[in-house]
Amino acid sequence: PIVDHPRMTVIGTGYLGATHAVCMAALGFDVLGVDVDEGKIEALAEGRTPFFEPGLPEKLREALDSGRLRFTTDFDRAAEFGDIHFVCVGTPQLPGSNAADLRFVDSAFTELARRMTRKALLVGKSTVPIGTASRITAAVQAVSPLGDELELAWNPEFLREGFAVDDTLHPDRLVFGVSSEWAEGQLRAAFRPILDDDTPLVVSDLATAELVKVAANSFLATKISYINAMAEVCEATGADVNQLAVALGYDDRIGPRFLKPGLGFGGGCLPKDIRAFTFRAAELGVGQAVAFLEEVDAINIRRRVRTVDLVRELAGGSLEGVRVAALGAAFKPNSDDVRDAPALDVARMLYLEGASVSVYDPEATENAHRAYPDLDYASSLTEAVTGASVVALLTEWDEFRDADPAALGELVAARHVVDGRHALDADRYRAAGWEYRALGLPAGP
Ligand code: UGA
Repeated sequence: PIVDHPRMTVIGTGYLGATHAVCMAALGFDVLGVDVDEGKIEALAEGRTPFFEPGLPEKLREALDSGRLRFTTDFDRAAEFGDIHFVCVGTPQLPGSNAADLRFVDSAFTELARRMTRKALLVGKSTVPIGTASRITAAVQAVSPLGDELELAWNPEFLREGFAVDDTLHPDRLVFGVSSEWAEGQLRAAFRPILDDDTPLVVSDLATAELVKVAANSFLATKISYINAMAEVCEATGADVNQLAVALGYDDRIGPRFLKPGLGFGGGCLPKDIRAFTFRAAELGVGQAVAFLEEVDAINIRRRVRTVDLVRELAGGSLEGVRVAALGAAFKPNSDDVRDAPALDVARMLYLEGASVSVYDPEATENAHRAYPDLDYASSLTEAVTGASVVALLTEWDEFRDADPAALGELVAARHVVDGRHALDADRYRAAGWEYRALGLPAGP
C-alpha cells in the first residue's frame, strides 16, 4: 500500500542530501538524515552545515527545533525508519578516468537493502550513468531479505549551489523514473506539497530519468561553451562578446540565461557530468552522438589558458616574479566550493609560470588552501591587491564588483586588470587609469 505521509531517510548529507533532508522536514515530513561521516552528522545535528549555503543553516535549525529532522550514522535505524529512502551520495569523477565513481552509490543502496525487512521505496537522487538504476535494482534484490519485492525509483535533482533551498522547494519540474504504479504513487505522496504548487511533473522509466539529468547539465555546459567559443571568434575580429550575448539572448528561443561569457564552468557537477556522459555513451556504442561534449570541455579549458595569456600580456610578456592578485577561488560566487574551480586553476597556472600569486576569496579560502597549499592566501581584498602588478578577477563576488577602482588603484604597483567574469565596469576602471582587459572584448583604448 501507498503510505500517505511517508517517513523519509536521506542517505548522504552533502549539498544535495542535507538540503533535501532539511526541505522535506520543512514541508512537514519526518526525516532521518544518514551519513557514514560522523563529523558531518554531529555538525548537522547541532545545527551547523558543513558547507556554505545561504539560507540553509536557518532552515536546518528550524527543522531541528520542530523535531521532524534527526541525524544518525546507524543504517539499522535508517532501514527500520523509512517508508522512502532517498540516496543522495556523491558520484565524483574517478581519478585518471572520465568515468563516474559509483562506489558510494552502490554501497549506500546495498547497505540499506541488506537491512530492510519491510517494504519501502528506494529512490536514487544522485547523478549517475544511464543504466545504473536497473543494475542496482538487481544488486539490492540479491542482498535484501525482501528479494524481488524491493523496488527502485530515480528522482534526479536539479538544484544549484547558492540557491539550493529555493530550487528544492520550488523546482522548475519534478522527474519520477519508476517501474510501477505503486512507486509513482509513493513518490507523489512524498512530493505532494510541491506538486500542489502546480510544479510540472514528468513520469518516466528509470533510464529516461537518469538521462534527463545528464542531458540537462550537458545542455547547460554546451550553452556556456557556445558563447565562450564566440568569445574566441570575437577576439580574432575585434567584436564584443557581451553585446553579442545580449543580442542573441533577446531571441526567446535562445534566451539570455547561461549565456554569460567568461572563464567558463566549473564545480562538482557540470565538468564531471559531461565527461561521465561521454564515457557512458561510448560504452553504450553511441559515443559519436555526444562527441561534441569533448569540444565543449576543450573550449571551457581554453578560456583558463587564455585568461593566463591576458595576465601575461599585461605583465609585459613574462610572469616570472610578477605579483598577481587573484580575486576569487570558488567555482562561482556565493559558494565555498572549489571543486574544478576555474579561478583556482588559473591561479595555479600563474604560479607555475613563476608569478607570485596572492589569492583572496570571501568564503572559499579554507577549501582552496586545502586543495592548493602552495599558493599564498590573503585574508582581505586590500591585502591581496597591495603591491600587485596585475589584478585578475576570477570569481564574480559582489565584494569585487563593488570595489572602488580609484581606491584599488592606490594600492597596486601597476593599474592592470583582467576581468575574467565580465563583472567590472570597464569604463570606470579605464577612467581611473586602469588598463582593462577581458575575454572576448577588444583591448580598448
Ligand atoms: C549545476 C546546474 O546548474 C544545476 O541545475 C544542477 O542541478 C547542478 O549543476 C548539479 O548537477 O548538481 P551548479 O554546479 O551549482 O549547478 O552551478 P551553476 O550555477 O550551474 O554554475 C556552473 C558553472 O558555470 C559556474 O562555474 C559558473 O560560473 C559557470 N557559468 C554559469 C558561466 O560561466 N556562464 C553562465 O552563463 C552560467
